Amino acid sequence: MKIKFAVIGQGHIGKRHAEMIRANSAAELVAVCDILPKAALGLDGMKEKFYSSVTEMLNNNSEVDVVNVCSPNGLHAEHTLQSLSAGKHVVIEKPMALKKEDCELLIHKAMQAHKQVFCVMQNRYSPPAVWLKEVVEKKIIGDIYIVQLNCYWNRDERYYAGKTWKGTQALDGGTLFTQFSHWIDLLYWLFGDIRDVQAKFADFNHKNLTEFEDSGLVNFRFMNGGMGTINYSTSAWDKNLESSITVIGSKGSLKVGGQYMDKVEYCHIKDYKMPELLPTAPANDYGAYKGSANNHHFIISNVIDTLKGNASMTTSALEGMKVVEIIERIYSLRNEDRKS
Ligand SMILES: NC(=O)c1ccc[n+]([C@@H]2O[C@H](COP(=O)([O-])OP(=O)(O)OC[C@H]3O[C@@H](n4cnc5c(N)ncnc54)[C@H](O)[C@@H]3O)[C@@H](O)[C@H]2O)c1
Repeated sequence: MKIKFAVIGQGHIGKRHAEMIRANSAAELVAVCDILPKAALGLDGMKEKFYSSVTEMLNNNSEVDVVNVCSPNGLHAEHTLQSLSAGKHVVIEKPMALKKEDCELLIHKAMQAHKQVFCVMQNRYSPPAVWLKEVVEKKIIGDIYIVQLNCYWNRDERYYAGKTWKGTQALDGGTLFTQFSHWIDLLYWLFGDIRDVQAKFADFNHKNLTEFEDSGLVNFRFMNGGMGTINYSTSAWDKNLESSITVIGSKGSLKVGGQYMDKVEYCHIKDYKMPELLPTAPANDYGAYKGSANNHHFIISNVIDTLKGNASMTTSALEGMKVVEIIERIYSLRNEDRKS
């Protein structure tokens, strides 16, 4: 029996979800919806059913097992709640929501409805990320002293062109939610929760483009020992510079870098030989700008395998909520920083 999917939102990533569902022989794409007309989305030739509202799609497709929420960030909670209430499992694009309390509501609803909520953090599948997880979890690098996460991207007027949800406080939520939640997820996944957070923020060249900061310097301690920093910006000129993570441990040091943490740039660990890693999938290419790893086929396979009882989910709703909670905690310092 094929698992039947429907997709909310047919923008950049919604189209990719649809494509990956079609490409999976154990899945069937039943319907999609978007508030924009089919023609405007370039979907005229699409064979599956198209709806212009979430309610209409859910009301007319009781056979659907899973709904993939690919709408703007600020609508994830509402669309997930609607889908859970209709008795569907849900796959939520990152970030899970813009508030921790909304994530809690979704987790509670999923428990009541006996449905699964999958979060999308596809960078976890990249070979350098899988390798890092092993090196940290098996303590190959020893105790963690310092972790430095650097995310320097370009998001200029080309990215924010047109009337869109991107750059708005209500639907986008901020640079850490839209651009860098993947990396906060990796930090949490690899090193656990943080405490003693301090931060400085700046808006260098996005005053006419976004309602929030474009850059930040964040430092903290890990609950498990060691300390870390997140340096981030969307102000890099013309194109992304890097997304990198440097780890100093008691037994060695390493750096995973590249435009989207796609290659191991340095590894020097006591009595350890770096294995050969598989090549990382290319970044999602949106023309004028590049995003995170193009790994969405893994997400669809994981949903199917988990629902069939053959695997466990890669990113749970609890982990999705922790990422939101950590970002909320960092952003709660924005007001304090403005005062100083
Ligand atoms: N995992 C990743 O690497 C990745 C990459 C890009 C985007 N995303 C996430 O995916 C989501 C969508 O991003 P995008 O870049 O595709 O944006 P987008 O603007 O290209 O697409 C969003 C679509 O949702 C539609 N929409 C808006 N309100 C709606 C509603 N009420 N009902 C149905 N459709 C509605 C819009 O018309 C638009 O077509 C965001 O949450 C974003 O953070 C994740």
